[in-house]
Amino acid sequence: MKGHFLDIFDISYEEAKQIVDLSFDFKYNNFNPKSLQNLNIALLFSKPSTRTRVSFEVGIKELGGNPIFLQESSLQVSRGEDASDSARTLSRYVDGVVIRTGSHQWLTEFAKYSNVPVINALTDYTHPCQALSDIFTLFEAFKENIKNIKVLYIGDGNNMANALISAFALFGLNLTVCTPKELAPDEENLKRALEVAKQTKAKIILEEDPKKAAKDKDVIYTDVWISMNDDGSKEYKINLLKDYQVNEQLLSYAKKDVKIMHCLPAKKGQEITEDIFEKHADFIFNQAENRLHTQKALMYLMFDGTNKMASI
Ligand code: CP
Ligand code: NVA
Repeated sequence: MKGHFLDIFDISYEEAKQIVDLSFDFKYNNFNPKSLQNLNIALLFSKPSTRTRVSFEVGIKELGGNPIFLQESSLQVSRGEDASDSARTLSRYVDGVVIRTGSHQWLTEFAKYSNVPVINALTDYTHPCQALSDIFTLFEAFKENIKNIKVLYIGDGNNMANALISAFALFGLNLTVCTPKELAPDEENLKRALEVAKQTKAKIILEEDPKKAAKDKDVIYTDVWISMNDDGSKEYKINLLKDYQVNEQLLSYAKKDVKIMHCLPAKKGQEITEDIFEKHADFIFNQAENRLHTQKALMYLMFDGTNKMASI
């Protein structure tokens, strides 16, 4: 069995939409399957996490399964054991693996050798679980109007930018990405997204000027300027990004009732001011809650030994 979810483009539009629909069922319709009964799911994390770790652990338990949290520093991986050997070993004990790691290449290598499904819980390249959940949050807020809204992602062209570009392309939605040119999102991913967008009628636009980018937007999304896998100069990035802050002035260009999204954790005073964050906290923490519902939907489809998604 292959069946991994490492990137948004691993799944089809129909499957992604099914995940969103199931997220509604989990959140609102008392959908409560025990599809992970008697299953053990490993969470292998080499990086810190609050939302992803806890929402996966709680989600696994609510689905009747047993989460096993493995901090990388306590595994032989930290002493250089190959991804391939770690994967072949864990596959003999557990029924699925959720991985957060610095290197997307390491994740891909692990998945290649894993006989049980693997979920990407964030790499340096992409954060697909967050992006899927964010699409659910947008469906929840805008319903059938979702195709008409204009969303801006502003800040660093990082893993979150890549994941959102892919997800908006797959769902046929409108996304403007505003970063300094030095911090542009991944080119290959963008190219692929633009190909997908031709089919889905998504509009993916890059705009360097924050004022132009914010104009008439219904939603403004941001993320930290310094990511956990960044090992370059912080000062260099902060300096490049200083005009890309989500603040009162930027919001004056957007729609009056603009909604603010942030995947969290937030570094207030950098990518977003504290007053804007607090004004929009309800929406932001609902966005955080939705990780739980969307990941339960994903695990319901992936982790019960039958793999209900044809594409992966
Ligand atoms: N958004 C997100 O992935 O948060 P954590 O790093 O806390 O898991
Ligand atoms: N870009 C951030 C996302 C955190 C959820 C990081 O990688 O640290």
